Amino acid sequence: MKNLYFIATLIFWLTIVSFWIALSWSPESDNAINRNPIVVYSLSEVIKHNQQTDCWMAIHGQVYDLTTYLPQHPAALRVILPSCGTEASQAYDTKNRSREHTNAADMLLKHYRIGVLKH
Ligand code: HEM
Repeated sequence: MKNLYFIATLIFWLTIVSFWIALSWSPESDNAINRNPIVVYSLSEVIKHNQQTDCWMAIHGQVYDLTTYLPQHPAALRVILPSCGTEASQAYDTKNRSREHTNAADMLLKHYRIGVLKH
């Protein structure tokens, strides 16, 4: 009976540990930065994506495809649209009106990263 209890406890903990290991290795736990470590875009490539239906931005050395985010952005489209196809670090940092985006915006931005900007 003691043995049975020991084996059941062992199986229980082995199951927990296996789940934990499986979850920490799952690709789902990677963020966009890890998924795209080496795609490099030049600014001349970014510039081509300068419209509402195809909007890329370079922000602090990273390149983002924000096409699907544009309709969700809290400010009016005319505020963010001119930054499509540009090096938009300053626009992003200041919202074009001397105000920083919140951490929530920074976290959101990560989801749209497609690569890095060529030096
Ligand atoms: C680069 C050009 C951009 C400009 C000029 C811009 C400007 C603005 C403005 C004027 C507001 C509303 C007013 C305010 O809250 O102060 C705002 C809010 C916001 N924007 Fe942007 N934005 C830009 C890009 C982005 C990007 C790329 C993201 C994220 C993917 C983003 C996420 C947000 C969020 C989450 C808010 C709500 C308030 C906050 O978290 O700061 N914005 N933005």
